Amino acid sequence: MAERLVSMRGLSCHFPAAEAGVKLAAVDAVDLDIYAGEILGLVGESGSGKSTLGRMLAGLQQPSAGTLRFHGESDAGRARISSVQMVFQDSYASLNPRRRIIDSLMEPLGVARVSTRDKLSKAAKWLERVGLSRDAGERFPHELSGGQRQRVGIARAFIAEPRLVVCDEAVSALDVSVQAQIINLLQDIQRDSGTAIVFIAHDLAVVRSLADRTAVMYLGEIVELGSSAQVFSRPLHPYTRNLLAAHPEAELNSQGRHRRKVAPAQERRLPLSNDSGCRYAPRCSLAKPFCLRTPPALAVSEAGSEVACHRLREIEQYLASRAAKAHDDESSIL
Ligand SMILES: Nc1ncnc2c1ncn2[C@@H]1O[C@H](COP(=O)(O)OP(=O)(O)OP(=O)(O)O)[C@@H](O)[C@H]1O
Ligand SMILES: [Mg+2]
Repeated sequence: MAERLVSMRGLSCHFPAAEAGVKLAAVDAVDLDIYAGEILGLVGESGSGKSTLGRMLAGLQQPSAGTLRFHGESDAGRARISSVQMVFQDSYASLNPRRRIIDSLMEPLGVARVSTRDKLSKAAKWLERVGLSRDAGERFPHELSGGQRQRVGIARAFIAEPRLVVCDEAVSALDVSVQAQIINLLQDIQRDSGTAIVFIAHDLAVVRSLADRTAVMYLGEIVELGSSAQVFSRPLHPYTRNLLAAHPEAELNSQGRHRRKVAPAQERRLPLSNDSGCRYAPRCSLAKPFCLRTPPALAVSEAGSEVACHRLREIEQYLASRAAKAHDDESSIL
């Protein structure tokens, strides 16, 4: 197992909700480790807490409870500034409009004791590394295309050799063809640098192809965590199964053929007596009354992934029997 880079234990972030006196748990008691050099995908519907988790990692958001430990660093607070960087969706907003690109690129090197000449040469090297001309360095952000600006955003994130980069919807605002180029670039840089990446995205097909592991979030909690191959090809949590069914392209099998579509789980509203049970239960077609009463902990599945569902064993049995039946059906045809 690779070296552990970050450990989150009971990590939470609460915001005041619209109703007075009520707190909203944007991230709720998350236990998660990030390993050196891995790409960890983070998926889940809008509002599930992905950005808040990413911002806590980058030190841009203060946790309300729990611990966030950076291994191999004595002072987590100080270490985080240089060892975790972020790439945002809006490359324009993340660059100072009045600074030339080359100056913005040198900014993260500011804290290190490096001469201006060395910083300039490093920035020039990174411009080239992300496929931009030297001339682009002399321009201002508005003079670049969205794709070019995102290349700058990536160079800026990696230039100070961080140990972790959080990419929050980093390619979502780009055209599909540009997206592919930027993803290839990220992959190349990640391979060379060995920097771990937390890759937050709505595009499940992209996460599947890029991430080694994937964590699925629902209302502030991680409901499923495993290798991307496992999570995408054999999702176990009813929420993950529902999420993937809504994105059939992510269920492409290894031969590139479409799998038979799984019908989206029926939305079934059960009265929420209190907030103590499984958060997905009110929407879950498999929920039993006890699901509403007791929160499920992450349990290890037969395949080694972690799933927070009371009905995990039954789901596994069902999938195994369905696979066996499909095998029998196929054998009877052949
Ligand atoms: N600064 C804030 N103040 C109050 N509430 C916030 C704040 N930031 C986020 N929230 C709330 O926390 C919850 C999680 O938000 P977050 O942005 O982390 O979700 P997300 O998974 O990144 O969603 P999206 O996919 O839309 O980007 C949401 O309900 C959001 O409204
Ligand atoms: Mg977000």
